[in-house]
Amino acid sequence: MTQTPATLEEVARAADIQIMWCQQNGAPFTAQVLQAIRENLTSGGTLARLMTPWPGNPLADALLLRATGALHFMVRIGKAPDLAAYYPGHGDKPWDAGAGRAIEDAVVAHLALVKDTLSRPPQTNETGRSAVLMPGYAEIARRTGLPLSILEIGASAGLNLLWDRFAYRYGDRFVGDTNASVVINAEWRGTWCNVEHLPRVVAKRGCDRTPFDLSAPGAADRLIAYVWPEQKERLVRIEAAIALAQGEKPSLEKADAGDWLERQLASQVPGAATVIAHTIVWQYIARETREKIEALLKSTGDRATEAAPLAWLTLEQYAPDQFPEVRLTLWPGGQTQKIATAHPHGAWIEWLL
Ligand SMILES: C[S@@+](CC[C@H](N)C(=O)[O-])C[C@H]1O[C@@H](n2cnc3c(N)ncnc32)[C@H](O)[C@@H]1O
Repeated sequence: MTQTPATLEEVARAADIQIMWCQQNGAPFTAQVLQAIRENLTSGGTLARLMTPWPGNPLADALLLRATGALHFMVRIGKAPDLAAYYPGHGDKPWDAGAGRAIEDAVVAHLALVKDTLSRPPQTNETGRSAVLMPGYAEIARRTGLPLSILEIGASAGLNLLWDRFAYRYGDRFVGDTNASVVINAEWRGTWCNVEHLPRVVAKRGCDRTPFDLSAPGAADRLIAYVWPEQKERLVRIEAAIALAQGEKPSLEKADAGDWLERQLASQVPGAATVIAHTIVWQYIARETREKIEALLKSTGDRATEAAPLAWLTLEQYAPDQFPEVRLTLWPGGQTQKIATAHPHGAWIEWLL
């Protein structure tokens, strides 16, 4: 079924929803940027020409976040100095009517860049989610008594494949190397999981349908541009993780999750627990592929042994109106447990074991 393109009114409504979402989720600056984008749209600015009619669903396509990403990207790479003056960490000038003019001028001056950014879905890679999966990985190592071999699907730029090189601070508890270049802070809720050391990882690989190649020129700034500019802690953390990834180059393949897992699970690393992991990916994978993955895990799990166990560890938004859940399935056995709930970016984790 072909979708009718979204009108200017529909895109403006999507902007209103995105503004409210940002206001409620600690992004007041981005809410102001969105308000200025909305004004640009409704007053016949250049963004109206680029964003309407929109040949899809503006909310599902995260159209407004494509636009904020384009502006933040221009600010970061020095292409929009007048707009940068307003951005946190760049000029910090109080927001005023000049900001709207600076947006219009930047868009007009860099039309090709803006069009290109609007044509791509926002690509994020949130390292805060490692603070949510880490205790799950530790739980698998504890239950199996084995080091881990990790297969991450939908890994984006592969930053969370570096989770065993990060350190974690949950309130006054610290886990990991005190010299780690990436330290992730998260609020711990519930009983402490008793993890003192990071579990040993013997292999880790990932795939993504559109992997983010951090070695490409400008790629790091493009990835960072999708982090809301006022969220300083997330910016600092992603910058440090990107620097680590540029040295360590996580093993990342361009592939569809179903096909890739089929190939990876054909042979497993001996002496290790194989862990299939993913964070905020499931909702983007086509239903047939999800069914294929479930069947694949079940058939591989049915052959798992105590010496060669299989685990499935996920942080996913299983219901749209609830916080994401961390689920763990472990074979032999194949029982699924909800082991935690968490903030979508890993700001807090509520441990349920
Ligand atoms: C919201 S991002 C999350 C990225 C990363 N897991 C994180 O938590 O930061 C979703 C990712 O899933 C990838 N993706 C979606 N469908 C996929 C598929 N069928 N196979 C592989 N990757 C997929 C997208 O390209 C994107 O990088």
